[in-house]
Amino acid sequence: MSKTGPLSKKLHVKTYGCQMNVYDSARMADVMAPYGYAASDRADGADLVILNTCHIREKATEKVYSELGRLRVMKEEAAKEGRRMLIAVAGCVAQAEGEEIVRRAPVVDMVFGPQTYHRLPELVTRALGRETGRGGWRGAGVVDTDFPAEDKFDHLPEESRTQGAAAFLSIQEGCDKFCTFCVVPYTRGAEFSRPAAAVVAEARRLVAGGALEITLLGQNVNAYHGEGPDGRDWGLGRLIRALAEIDGLARLRYTTSHPRDMDDDLIAAHGEVPALMPYLHLPVQSGSDRILDTMNRGHTADDYRRIVDRLRDARPDLALSSDFIVGFPGESDRDFADTLRLVREVGFAQAYSFKYSARAGTPAASVADQLSEAEKSDRLEALQQILNAQQRAFNEAAVGSVQPVLFERRGNRPGQLVGRGPWMQSIHAEAPERLLGAIVGVAVDLGGANSLSGHVVTVETAGRVDPVAPSPQPPPAERVPA
Ligand code: 5AD
Ligand code: SF4
Repeated sequence: MSKTGPLSKKLHVKTYGCQMNVYDSARMADVMAPYGYAASDRADGADLVILNTCHIREKATEKVYSELGRLRVMKEEAAKEGRRMLIAVAGCVAQAEGEEIVRRAPVVDMVFGPQTYHRLPELVTRALGRETGRGGWRGAGVVDTDFPAEDKFDHLPEESRTQGAAAFLSIQEGCDKFCTFCVVPYTRGAEFSRPAAAVVAEARRLVAGGALEITLLGQNVNAYHGEGPDGRDWGLGRLIRALAEIDGLARLRYTTSHPRDMDDDLIAAHGEVPALMPYLHLPVQSGSDRILDTMNRGHTADDYRRIVDRLRDARPDLALSSDFIVGFPGESDRDFADTLRLVREVGFAQAYSFKYSARAGTPAASVADQLSEAEKSDRLEALQQILNAQQRAFNEAAVGSVQPVLFERRGNRPGQLVGRGPWMQSIHAEAPERLLGAIVGVAVDLGGANSLSGHVVTVETAGRVDPVAPSPQPPPAERVPA
């Protein structure tokens, strides 16, 4: 395929799952832009539709197949009008299911995994070259799910056109932890860290392009061990300190972390690097040592409590988020009670919780002691009741504070913008459009279940400046009543 000037074709990428996928989707758009593909938020009328999929839980996979059913109708309509619509399945479902996708959904032209999307133009060319007569254009299912030896990051365009004021930067991929419930080590492969110089260079470009906040991404982001410019091994703490030096970069975050990889330097960075935001997503999965052991997590519930204490010593206003799985095979009432106890003791500003879903090929899927759906639902409800109450209390405690908000998008109501405060809360306020992409002081008037709202008080902080100091700060989550 040849590179063209003006953007004359439409590309629609639908993203499922984690922020790694959000990042990958943005990079897919970057890869296709030089070939004339402009990003579109509609599948209807698009020349190329990519479903960037998630395989982590069963429902995520099923959603992809039902979306493919809808796309088939669109593709047939397009063919009737003489247009070709290519359909691609990317991401972890693609990696895990490969050829099976084309068999189950012949409407799919291309299947490619998270490690090969830099070859997208070549795949599109190959798919466009195949045509079967009846019913319009049909791909022959170009499948590319290698784990290639070449580093995809070396083959991606340097410039990212698709990132705004709050940008993502992938620094690490893959996972060697092999939690017994999880498909990620199989779909994303072994842990890999990008060299620090490449990360810093990409961060500089993002900031030059208007980013005020960068979220460092990795399946196991704090397992980061990249080669430093000094030839030494850099951990995440060291990398964060280097990134914080970039002029104009006001905020840093990282996700997702593993408790085992919270090393001393990273914990200290939370107290020493002002740009590192006071919010950390640190999945624990369960509060029962017995279950943590059979999950192969490599830490106990008390290890987690100690890490949280040390983080809060370093940064007293740190808010925590986590992931929980209920109904893991063999989970007893007592194990579940241990999880509830841990939640009450730690106090979370927000959290994600899931019913265990057996994933083919993972060790936990073949354990005989699976719980019933009803038990899992009851436990999920009980857990979410506590987590929701903690989140609400955390949000209500923010009322009366002034928070630096990075406005990222328009709100649902006209004249309203939405952004995030330091503690990751979504904050709505009436504000002129010119404040999109700026950090603005917002006085919080209302704290709801999932978001806050307030009014702008310090517009003069707009632009690339340090965030205004939040005052007064919401209490740390540990003081939030459960
Ligand atoms: N069943 C339920 N939840 C899962 N997760 C990962 N695998 C499974 C599974 N098989 C959850 C974990 C992880 C999050 C991203 O998804 O909590 O941290
Ligand atoms: Fe999955 Fe565990 Fe690796 Fe996280 S640490 S990606 S849950 S195997």
